[in-house]
Amino acid sequence: MITLRKQIDEAVSFLRTKTKAEPSIGIILGTGLGGLAKEIKSEVVIGYEDIPHFPISTVESHHGKLIFGTLVNKQVVAMQGRFHYYEGYTLKQVTFPVRVMKFLGIRTLLISNAAGGVNPQFSRGSIMIITDHINLLGDNSLIGPNDDTLGPRFPDMSEPYSRNLVALAEQVALDLRIRTERGVFVAVAGPNLETRAEYRFLRFIGADVVGMSTVPENIVAIHMGLQVLGFSIITDECFPDSLQVANVEEIIAVAKNTEPKLTAIMKGVIERL
Ligand code: HPA
Repeated sequence: MITLRKQIDEAVSFLRTKTKAEPSIGIILGTGLGGLAKEIKSEVVIGYEDIPHFPISTVESHHGKLIFGTLVNKQVVAMQGRFHYYEGYTLKQVTFPVRVMKFLGIRTLLISNAAGGVNPQFSRGSIMIITDHINLLGDNSLIGPNDDTLGPRFPDMSEPYSRNLVALAEQVALDLRIRTERGVFVAVAGPNLETRAEYRFLRFIGADVVGMSTVPENIVAIHMGLQVLGFSIITDECFPDSLQVANVEEIIAVAKNTEPKLTAIMKGVIERL
């Protein structure tokens, strides 16, 4: 069986035949949040289906492309379209692109997602900077033999989201006069949204927002020593005592409407990195 390391090396070798780019920043864009990709002066765009060992995106609102280019004069590589556990991929598949981006040279990973707000002080359309997370996926990206050339068997998780980057993002947002929240992201497997009892539980255990992504990628990034900055757009209010029927079109619309603000923050962060 081909090892994970060999798969990474093959994907990286393939990409090296397509581009000489040396990105220092990787970006994963969430549901309805592909707009930042439009701001990248892209030199090379490669469909996931062409990259060895890459899974292929199935969710309609996602386009599966790896974009190499410059954003505010920094070299970046962005994933337009990510993989979710609920689509049936293993967490190894979900996180494979993060491994590849690391071996392309990134040192910092920026992640965005759409999430439900369980903190009653957060409203729909707000932006939360992720300070910590809870993994309720019932699975882990690092299960299985550990390759010590990638990272340690038991990675430390005392700072899964860089405190420096959280502070930088808050300063950028302040300068732009954009309000942000900070808080804890909890990852669930999905694909169903949660019951009232589950939202009550998630709030009780310390979550501020809930979503179906980001944590697998974060764990792999931390495993390999990357710095991570994460943002959630709160697309729906998940308050158990006043819960409305969820409308996925509306969730995506809220993400789209809030996106310009998040894009401005992310660009500001990249500029000052
Ligand atoms: N739960 C899980 N994921 C989500 C939600 C939610 O309420 N809203 C957007 N993504």
